[in-house]
Amino acid sequence: GKSGYDHYMLKEIHEQPRALRKCLRERVDGIDGSVDLDLDRLDDADRIHLVACGTSYHAALYGAQVLRERGVPAQAFVASEYDRTTLAGETPLVIGVTQSGETADTLGALRTARAAGAETLAVTNTVGSTAARECDQALYVRAGPEIGVAATKTFASQQLALHAFALWHSADSIDPERIDALRSLPDQVQSVLDDADVESIAAEYADSSAFFFIGRGHNHPVALEGALKLKEITYEHAEGFPAGELKHGPLALMEDDAPVIALVTGDGERARKTLNNVKEVQSRGAPVIAVTDGRLDVEQYANHVLTVPETDPTLAPLLANVQLQLLAYWIAARLGRPIDKPRHLAKSVTVE
Ligand code: M6R
Repeated sequence: GKSGYDHYMLKEIHEQPRALRKCLRERVDGIDGSVDLDLDRLDDADRIHLVACGTSYHAALYGAQVLRERGVPAQAFVASEYDRTTLAGETPLVIGVTQSGETADTLGALRTARAAGAETLAVTNTVGSTAARECDQALYVRAGPEIGVAATKTFASQQLALHAFALWHSADSIDPERIDALRSLPDQVQSVLDDADVESIAAEYADSSAFFFIGRGHNHPVALEGALKLKEITYEHAEGFPAGELKHGPLALMEDDAPVIALVTGDGERARKTLNNVKEVQSRGAPVIAVTDGRLDVEQYANHVLTVPETDPTLAPLLANVQLQLLAYWIAARLGRPIDKPRHLAKSVTVE
């Protein structure tokens, strides 16, 4: 059942700390600072393609970014756009990221890859799924069953599993601080859930004409995911952009009844540039809801601030995303939408 929650989605959002702990268990070792995934070494994989749809594609975008930072050329593709020409004569390792393991578009991309001689890995939540059976190997994200059509805990677990994969694949030495950050993540997600205060902001903005999400670097996939979550359960218009792209067009959309949700974590160059984008937005009269760890002084340019704890910059998006999930949930609740079963959508999409 829903364990006292009004919807499975809210229950599953709250299950994230537990899901993430399970994802890490016996894989990320705090004592000897290593990652062990019980996979065969992928020796030929000097290039990686990730194929996925929807929320899983956002996890794939994130995973590709973490892999590239570890020196592994990696690129994410929307599965339905992946074909022989994308492979361009190469035989990369192809990772299918699919919660259900049954998504036709993703299975199709994996079959295309295999037909071209590529090695394949399924990153999935579902033991024995078609993706797990058809791929050479499987890495389970261990989020547990997800009933809500809107993917929540499985997205977090996919990101964490891909992060662990990136560390494992690029083996040599893993910074002990990164290991600590990974191991602290479940408790930090719990603290975001415990301290969350999104309902009144949701009430204030539920009738907005549109919602825009901006993020840079690791926060970019989460900006896209925040918009997808919001549109699928509220039926309102939402779009995510790389923060830097705003001034190349979307800035024309800024209005006082269309909030911009800005992800500003850390105090590095990306965060500082994003803060400049926030200023641009605010001076155009759009309300700003900032999700921040408070390392930069975002507050003075934002109408509202949603706080997350400080962590490694590569893991901050997983914390920020919890606030975006809750924002989508509470706006949908306010609008009286059928949150667990949005119209026209299915949990598992088995047609191309
Ligand atoms: O089962 P999959 O991860 O392959 O599903 C892919 C998408 O259909 C899925 O992520 C969808 O976008 C989400 N349910 C949206 O919340």
